[in-house]
Amino acid sequence: MNDFSSFGLDEEILRAIKNAGFKEPSPIQKQAIPLILQGFSIVAQAQTGTGKTAAFSLPTLSKINPEQKKVEILVITPTRELASQVSDEMYMFGKNKGIHTVTVYGGSSYKRQIDLINKGSHVVVATPGRMLDLLKNNKLKNFSPSVLIIDEADEMLDMGFLEDIKAIFSYLPNASQRMLFSATMPEPIKRLANNILTDAKFISVTPSKETTNEDIEQYYYVINEYEREVAITRLLDSIEPNKAVIFCRTKKEVDTLSTKLVALGHSAKGLHGDMEQAQREEVIKAFKGEQIELLVATDVAARGIHVNDISHVFNFHIPFNPDSYVHRVGRTGRAGQKGVAITLCTPLEYHSMQKIAKKIGSKIVQKSIPTLKELQISKLDKMAKNIKDAPLLEEATLVLDVLEEDISLAKIALKAISLLLERKGSTGPENIGLNKKALAKLLNSHPQNDKKRSSNRRRRRGHDRNERRRDDRGNKRRRRG
Ligand SMILES: Nc1ncnc2c1ncn2[C@@H]1O[C@H](COP(=O)(O)OP(=O)(O)OP(=O)(O)O)[C@@H](O)[C@H]1O
Ligand SMILES: [Mg+2]
Repeated sequence: MNDFSSFGLDEEILRAIKNAGFKEPSPIQKQAIPLILQGFSIVAQAQTGTGKTAAFSLPTLSKINPEQKKVEILVITPTRELASQVSDEMYMFGKNKGIHTVTVYGGSSYKRQIDLINKGSHVVVATPGRMLDLLKNNKLKNFSPSVLIIDEADEMLDMGFLEDIKAIFSYLPNASQRMLFSATMPEPIKRLANNILTDAKFISVTPSKETTNEDIEQYYYVINEYEREVAITRLLDSIEPNKAVIFCRTKKEVDTLSTKLVALGHSAKGLHGDMEQAQREEVIKAFKGEQIELLVATDVAARGIHVNDISHVFNFHIPFNPDSYVHRVGRTGRAGQKGVAITLCTPLEYHSMQKIAKKIGSKIVQKSIPTLKELQISKLDKMAKNIKDAPLLEEATLVLDVLEEDISLAKIALKAISLLLERKGSTGPENIGLNKKALAKLLNSHPQNDKKRSSNRRRRRGHDRNERRRDDRGNKRRRRG
């Protein structure tokens, strides 16, 4: 099956697929669409950026009768940004058919969301907290969707969200077709899925030996703890990424790093769960709309978010676990494009880095941070190339005419290049981080460094995980409190 026409999808949905420019279904779409059209509940795993959203949206929207003004599909996502994105995509696919979509999340008006649902929307895309509020308080009339989709299902069925999800399920006994989608599907989650979904079909199109998307080149750099900021700025200076996400561990780290990068002249903004909703929306919009090049974020942006042309993902700190790594780096290398993922790790974190690589089965190559000298040389090479390729402007001839009266051509050229160099100067220490040889020497002299710290790290990881969960939901809790 090489195109979408043989699935038996509604004509209007096929038209929307064509308008979206999709030529061929992705592997997960090929497998999931027929099963969903037949009415099966499914648990589906496929790599990041391979079209899981369309895999659940197209067949479910295809089955909707828009004449019936009631909610038929409920999609639950872990973050507000992802709820908005999924809602936009479902709206795009369904609008020709007259399907109405509403997004439901904290930090925005209850009344508007309730009115839109009660006035005949067909699709609700929600974060769990606000959805549960609406169900508990009995705010929705005749709310009985037949399809329930949990996106990023492993995150949603993990400890932080599980109780809310179970409660939502308990309010919706008529949702007979249930679906779980994610790029990662740990065994305990699959077992849990078996309990809450009856007769579900399991699909995985992820190669068993590699969980990350093969379009992502992956590297790590070993640095000292105190070198994180100079390391990231040196890498940004040397790579000059087109568009990148930099993941941090905490909200405070996001604020500090984004402020620092802006001060250094980068076009960067921070994103985390303590920001006002309007501000969060503005930042995502600016990043999608090319007004900023660097998004510095907590894991609130790790899952599901799709922004065109992200060329690089940086892990300012090593991620919490292998699954978190898979989702973070999956913000690049999407929809068939190539991407690069870069992780900074200290010698103490080196073994954790190796564990991540082993668990996800991907090749993550160690590299050394360019020295100041190397950076300067590569900048000079780039500048020479840019000068060679630069188009000639008419005004340039006028300026040259004036200058040539007093100075030789060679001197004019040298002075012009010097001006450019002044603007592009790089600073920082000559050497940053440890090369392979230095790392091997250090690991040999302190073989148990990583183990000694592992219990501390476990404790810290628990703390970090809790902070991440609070990240998206913190505002709601505080308002209630
Ligand atoms: N068949 C297709 N042909 C071309 N592009 C597609 C196709 N299906 C989806 N896409 C595009 O691929 C991009 C990534 O899709 P999507 O966000 O659904 O990925 P995902 O599998 O949900 O990833 P994640 O695990 O990160 O959530 C989107 O821009 C989407 O429009
Ligand atoms: Mg997705």
